[in-house]
Amino acid sequence: MSDLTSLYQEIILEHYRKPRNFGALDDPSFEAAGHNPLCGDRVKVSLKVDDQGKVSEVGFEGAGCAISTASASLMTESIKGKSLQEARELFSRFRDMVTGKNEVGDHDLGKLEALAGVRDLPIRVKCATLAWHTLQAAIQGEAEPVSTE
Ligand code: FES
Repeated sequence: MSDLTSLYQEIILEHYRKPRNFGALDDPSFEAAGHNPLCGDRVKVSLKVDDQGKVSEVGFEGAGCAISTASASLMTESIKGKSLQEARELFSRFRDMVTGKNEVGDHDLGKLEALAGVRDLPIRVKCATLAWHTLQAAIQGEAEPVSTE
């Protein structure tokens, strides 16, 4: 195992054990629920946007596997302070990375690159993108739970 792989595994496990921004927000600007039909895991994402249009607070709740929990935790860290458009663009780059559309290392995604190995585990792509699909649904104002399908 390379040093980078083991660093990435450490980041994933650390975020799984101590997820950041875990919990629902009171009075969010946007919120949505999502689920992964392959396993039944569910997540809720809520966020607040300040008067500059930037994400000021974001939270998630739900029980999932290590990859989905770590991905949700890393997502919340990575979108704070970003505009909704920037958050969408980040999701697009993240999805390209985990689906193998670009070379590893081509993404400039910081800690999110800890999840790059998912590209070799197609069934786990839904785990890694569950919170992101839910974030996108929240921004779009989807009332119904969104699925990773
Ligand atoms: Fe359910 Fe990963 S196994 S989200």
